Amino acid sequence: MIKCVIFDLDGVLTETSVQHFEAWQVIASELGIEIDWAFNECLKGVSRIESLKRILNHGNQQDRFSEQEIDSIAKRKNEIYLALIQQFNENHLFKGVRDLFEFLSASNIKIAIGSASQNAPFLIHAMGLSDLTDYIVNPLEVEKGKPAPDIFLNAMHHFNLTPEVCMGVEDAEVGITAIKSAGMFAVGIGDAKILHQADVVYETTEDFVKKVLSEGMFF
Ligand code: BG6
Ligand code: MG
Repeated sequence: MIKCVIFDLDGVLTETSVQHFEAWQVIASELGIEIDWAFNECLKGVSRIESLKRILNHGNQQDRFSEQEIDSIAKRKNEIYLALIQQFNENHLFKGVRDLFEFLSASNIKIAIGSASQNAPFLIHAMGLSDLTDYIVNPLEVEKGKPAPDIFLNAMHHFNLTPEVCMGVEDAEVGITAIKSAGMFAVGIGDAKILHQADVVYETTEDFVKKVLSEGMFF
């Protein structure tokens, strides 16, 4: 029986993967590096600094900047990203997310956010989910990012639970790997070919919500 659902945020609760990509595109084009939507797949679920390193690597510029310069470029990407999400509110949630959270909460199932993003608390608040969210993992407090299981295990430990009663929901390949490494049930949102390690995949979050609301926690 599932006692806790750990949701990724970007690309699962709302479509911020687009804004992350747009902000990276601005930075990449300033660096003279071309990135496209297919390349963006390898940035999903990955921390800010690691994303920048992957972009630099992609453009063969891995040795161009010092760690300090990398930090300041990443900070600037975040400023661009923050400007793009400033107006976010409950209307930016994928359809059904609030209903799903209400259903889980009424079923006494804990709700955690397991995102690599340092902006998760801002977005959860802006999209009106604070009252239904039991815990947000702070990615700066875990040793390793996705695909390591740390983010998901951090949420599990917070509730004193074991992996068999936890479920993770992810749109990123590294996120699914993280959930499976944590020994939890993995729900993928997106392309079943990319998310082949997941226990079950839905094309959209709305499809997942519909299934849960019509059949309960059927896993
Ligand atoms: C993940 C996104 O959720 O968070 C990545 O999928 C992003 O694209 C990462 O880089 C870190 O986010 P932030 O908001 O801390 O820069
Ligand atoms: Mg994601």
